[in-house]
Amino acid sequence: MAIEAFVFDAYGTLFDVQSVSQITNIEFPQHGELITQVWRLKQLEYTWLRTLMHSYKSFWEISEDALIFTLNAIGQEASPAQIERIMDKYLNLDPYPDAIDALTALKGVPLAILSNGNQEALDALMQNTGLGKHLDAVISIDKVRKFKPHPEAYELVEARLNVKPENVMFVSSNAFD
Ligand code: 2OP
Repeated sequence: MAIEAFVFDAYGTLFDVQSVSQITNIEFPQHGELITQVWRLKQLEYTWLRTLMHSYKSFWEISEDALIFTLNAIGQEASPAQIERIMDKYLNLDPYPDAIDALTALKGVPLAILSNGNQEALDALMQNTGLGKHLDAVISIDKVRKFKPHPEAYELVEARLNVKPENVMFVSSNAFD
């Protein structure tokens, strides 16, 4: 079966979500690692719950809600400025060291991202990290307001790239994805 497009998940696959620990460790020394881990788990949980409840909020808002939950759960008070500084890392996450090499090696076949991230945040991340120039499309689930693994999220790929699902190689580090 011919592969006509490679589509990547963003957070956790091309970008290291654990790189938020650089800022969580600065803002909350001693707790950075715990915040980083719990935040990610809660963030994903909220995406699934909100899709099940038909109560969409953007991934940005969900991520902020999950961060606030995490800080409350471990008894840390955070100022709005601290929340903003931590959230800002989501616009500047570190790409994994091999991400650009992998995309460069695959050049010639359409390359895209399909992510839970809202379009604005994804576009900023692409711009800030320079990864955008290696991709033909950055697709956000925003358009269907349902988070992965809802089937409608994946249907966006065919609609955008005009490639049948069986001809897409989807790459994700998330087991549910
Ligand atoms: C993404 O959609 C699931 O966080 C993952 O980028």
